[in-house]
Amino acid sequence: MRIIVGMSGASGACLGVRFLRECQRMAIETHLVVSKWAERTLELETEVSMQDLCGLATTFHDGDDLGAPIASGSFRHDGMVVIPCSMKTAGAIANGYSATLLERAADVTIKEGRRLILVARETPLSAIHLENLLKLARIGVTIMPPVPAFYNQPENMNDIVGHFVGRVLDRLGVDNDLVKRWQGLD
Ligand SMILES: Cc1cc2nc3c(=O)[nH]c(=O)nc-3n(C[C@H](O)[C@H](O)[C@H](O)COP(=O)(O)O)c2cc1C
Repeated sequence: MRIIVGMSGASGACLGVRFLRECQRMAIETHLVVSKWAERTLELETEVSMQDLCGLATTFHDGDDLGAPIASGSFRHDGMVVIPCSMKTAGAIANGYSATLLERAADVTIKEGRRLILVARETPLSAIHLENLLKLARIGVTIMPPVPAFYNQPENMNDIVGHFVGRVLDRLGVDNDLVKRWQGLD
């Protein structure tokens, strides 16, 4: 399996880090592209360096390199996840404004009819944010805000992040042991 992983400058860099870790553990091929502001949030929110992050991916692509393989529809893959996804990046994707490699890869994923998942993070959401996300949802993009579940009784942030990342993998059709699944009431 081959996944494109985009990280943009919304809060929640730890989500992208954990997603890459789990993909590495499951031997899923990942192609990583990181926006400039994702580099900053990674630095501000985690102990993970850019070097460590790149080491979690199979291939790292420079975010300014619009000539990278993932910029082309001829690059075959099984889905793209933007985790986390800022409202700026969601707005760019919703309007086909592909100024960066991350935005171009998402644009191409849509035009080729491949699966795209946006872990869109902002709160509260303005009408502009909601309209952009609705526009994307209507054409089949999965909008998956990093909203925690509580029915699984998480004990710490690791549980919350793990469960959420497992649900993203579910959406990609990847069998995983990260989701504590609801077993019913009895
Ligand atoms: C610490 C920090 C947290 C941020 N959190 C968010 C967020 O949760 N959602 C969002 O849409 N933008 C957030 N931003 C703003 C984006 O980083 C900013 O809009 C940037 O231009 C996004 O560019 P990018 O999408 O190319 O990464 C945050 C910025 C910083 C510095």
